[in-house]
Amino acid sequence: MMASQVVKPDTRNCKRPRELEIFLHFVSNLSTIAVGFLSVMVRWISVLKKYVESTRQKKAIFSKQERLPCIAPLVTTVEETPQIVSACVRGHFPQWLRGYLLRVGPGKFEFGKDKYNHWFDGMALLHQFRMEKGTVTYRSKFLQSDTYKANSVHDRIVISEFGTLAVPDPCKNVFERFLSKFELPAITDNTNVNYVQYKGDYYLSTETNFMNKVDIKTLEKTEKVDWRKFIAVNGATAHPHYDADGTAYNMGNSYGSHGSCYNVIRVPPEKVDLGETIHGAQVICSIASAEGMRPSYYHSFGMTRKYIIFIEQPLKMNLWKVVTSKIRGKSFADGISWEPQYNTRFHVVDKHTGQLLPGMYYSKPFVTFHQINAFEDQGCVVIDLCCQDDGRSLEVYQLQNLRKVGEGLDQVYNSVGRSFPRRFVLPLHVSLNDPEGQNLSPLSYSSASAVKQADGKIWCSYENLHPEGLEDEGDLERRWLLPLGTCVCSCTRNQ
Ligand SMILES: [Fe+2]
Repeated sequence: MMASQVVKPDTRNCKRPRELEIFLHFVSNLSTIAVGFLSVMVRWISVLKKYVESTRQKKAIFSKQERLPCIAPLVTTVEETPQIVSACVRGHFPQWLRGYLLRVGPGKFEFGKDKYNHWFDGMALLHQFRMEKGTVTYRSKFLQSDTYKANSVHDRIVISEFGTLAVPDPCKNVFERFLSKFELPAITDNTNVNYVQYKGDYYLSTETNFMNKVDIKTLEKTEKVDWRKFIAVNGATAHPHYDADGTAYNMGNSYGSHGSCYNVIRVPPEKVDLGETIHGAQVICSIASAEGMRPSYYHSFGMTRKYIIFIEQPLKMNLWKVVTSKIRGKSFADGISWEPQYNTRFHVVDKHTGQLLPGMYYSKPFVTFHQINAFEDQGCVVIDLCCQDDGRSLEVYQLQNLRKVGEGLDQVYNSVGRSFPRRFVLPLHVSLNDPEGQNLSPLSYSSASAVKQADGKIWCSYENLHPEGLEDEGDLERRWLLPLGTCVCSCTRNQ
């Protein structure tokens, strides 16, 4: 429209050279194009202006979210509700939905004057939501673990937890208190991390050698089980995987003169006798840690139909520090450190034969607490993980941090390593003849790569499973919960 307003030179009464005509024509066209461009720009300016304004508004909204609501009630001691009560239902529960929703998490954070320090330390509170005929009932009970009972009797913390060191009995004299530092620390059976199943029975699990079997109808503990009585492990994760027939797979560490090993455990699905627990459990594969006295900390592992995937990450447990924690007056958590000078390594085990595959898969350092999914395709294992590039989040989850308000909480919030979903592809059949420097992944749908290096190692680069820009966005739920995933989701619901 504006282009029609351009005044073109009048050529009716003068004779111009051909070159001049061409030049004037060119200028005329140029003017038309320029004016056209300007007209488009004018229209787009208003659009751009609106976009910038909306971006400003978006940032303004985001910065408002930085004024985080206090989450202290989620990490505060609550009363148990042992008698069944009707739950307040919002929305509609289908009539056909019938069963229990079970959750466990920390629900008591002090005994007498003693207070726990870390989110993971609180006493296990069992939650039961029962759904039947469109109604929901609720009850909760504190797990009557030996730890809970001992703390209650003494009205102080007598058994150490992940982030809290139990101090010597103040009633002892100075000499007795000094000597008690050299006693082997009692291991907690405060199994507050997850419900797990073995042979159809329900157990509460943490990451020590103890589990507590529970009756899910009454929420009462029925038996305490010690992994060490069945197999040579010092504990097991709270996140086993299951085959369709009920066979359970888990992983646990063992420490000895040989150094430390990561062990793959298999528990059969059926009971020979009614009263048995994890009888028949076997270690089917032992993986030597890269450093004998400094194995990696891990919270879970991956599994496909045929394989176990273990991720040896540079979140190291210094066993010397752990063993001497009582003498040094430090908690177990003090022995864990993020060491990004090391890469993260994937180990793949054939879960049917127990054979560790020879492939040496590495990636840049990251930490993962929970897997999202794992499967096999075209000769590869594909594994999706919640990944953090900064592995110091365990330090941040001190209760004193989580109970902050205002700017203090904002600072804590911003210091938590963000967690993102990422996909890795591990080609299973790598041979000496495979070319170096080429991506060995045949998967056209994934940009994750696996490149063979000169030293035979496979360097794995991930594919982001999230939209671009997610790094710059965020909200309270995602940042707090994704780093630890479902585990924290269950742990936080203590009210
Ligand atoms: Fe977990």
